[in-house]
Amino acid sequence: MILAFLRGLEKAPTFLVPIINPPFADNSPHLSPGVSSKSVSARRMRMDKKDTLAKRYERIFSQLIPLLSKTKNSTARMATIASLLHLKMPRFFWTGFYALDRGELTVGPYQGPLACLVLEKKKGVCWAGVLRRRTIIVPDVHKFPGHIACDSRSNSEIVVPLFDAKGKVWGVLDIDSRELDAFSEVDREWLEKIVGVI
Ligand code: SME
Repeated sequence: MILAFLRGLEKAPTFLVPIINPPFADNSPHLSPGVSSKSVSARRMRMDKKDTLAKRYERIFSQLIPLLSKTKNSTARMATIASLLHLKMPRFFWTGFYALDRGELTVGPYQGPLACLVLEKKKGVCWAGVLRRRTIIVPDVHKFPGHIACDSRSNSEIVVPLFDAKGKVWGVLDIDSRELDAFSEVDREWLEKIVGVI
């Protein structure tokens, strides 16, 4: 009986296919399957995406808090943040930290392809985050003067500075995406909140 049912599905009329086999099987921020993009205005679509993304960050944040309460060790905390973000965000291609070590931005805990161990001084997006003391969103890294390409597959990037109790920058959270223009104000807002709990 089950086999007969499955065979029936193979011959399902085309209007049923998106329901049986949703186009976005992962948990990425898209419209619900079956909703016609033509019936929703572009503005509404952007708002839906924004809401879905914010909700996902909300879930990540509430998962993170009990995990981080296990230790005050910042390496363990950074490793947990990098792992959770990388796992839950399909757009994230490289997710990790650089920390200042004797004046050099040196790689810390990360997930993704191999990264540069030390970044050339005062060059690139990470250093821009340190020097400008604010989050930097780069929609197209190829247009950012001095961008350091640790992996040529990266196309956009967000860098969030890490501040100590005295307001001194001690490192950055750096996230790369293979997509162009992958990061928005929602990412900025939530990632700043997340690094605030390291
Ligand atoms: N692109 C960064 C270097 C670090 S990697 O992206 C992992 C930069 O320009 O500083």
